[in-house]
Amino acid sequence: MSEFPELASPTAGQNIVLVGFMGCGKSTVGREIGLQLNYKLIDTDVLIEDSVGKPISDIFAESGEEYFRGLETDLLEQIKARNSTHKIISTGGGLPVREANRAWLKKLGYVVWLRASVDTVMKRTATSSHRPLLQTDNARQKVEEMLATRNPIYHEVADLSINTDDLKISETVHGIIESANYHFSNY
Ligand code: S3P
Repeated sequence: MSEFPELASPTAGQNIVLVGFMGCGKSTVGREIGLQLNYKLIDTDVLIEDSVGKPISDIFAESGEEYFRGLETDLLEQIKARNSTHKIISTGGGLPVREANRAWLKKLGYVVWLRASVDTVMKRTATSSHRPLLQTDNARQKVEEMLATRNPIYHEVADLSINTDDLKISETVHGIIESANYHFSNY
């Protein structure tokens, strides 16, 4: 049978990994990319909650943040061990903080950092009560501090960064798919 390379998806089934701070839109953008590329969405927070059988806020309260970070590392190793392709992997905001996790992310696929300003994060997380790290009296200051620490980490792991502050979901999705296609066609 003839092959028509120009008709094949240039992403060639390679995974796309989304990183970024809480509220930057990873889950929503991930879902939409999944629909457009016919990729399965893997949301690390959802998988961890399903496997433990508890919401993340309970895991933090009962076993602490380090325990949760260990679950994130275990999960990444399992995803990599399955040699997954055609996946869009949406990661919890703190997952890239561990160096070992960053190494796994780079092996898993094309890493996209969805950037967001403090104002945007505050706006998008205002009604959320399921993020234990933001359940504090001065959430804005906490977000400022965490962004200052984490932005260089996201920057280090990412192949591409997109400032989502003024973008519609559809624009962010379009940008990611175009860039991933270009990246993989030169791979
Ligand atoms: C966290 C982000 C959350 C979740 C947990 C810890 C973080 O995921 O993994 O509450 O450390 O930034 P989202 O970024 O999907 O909200």
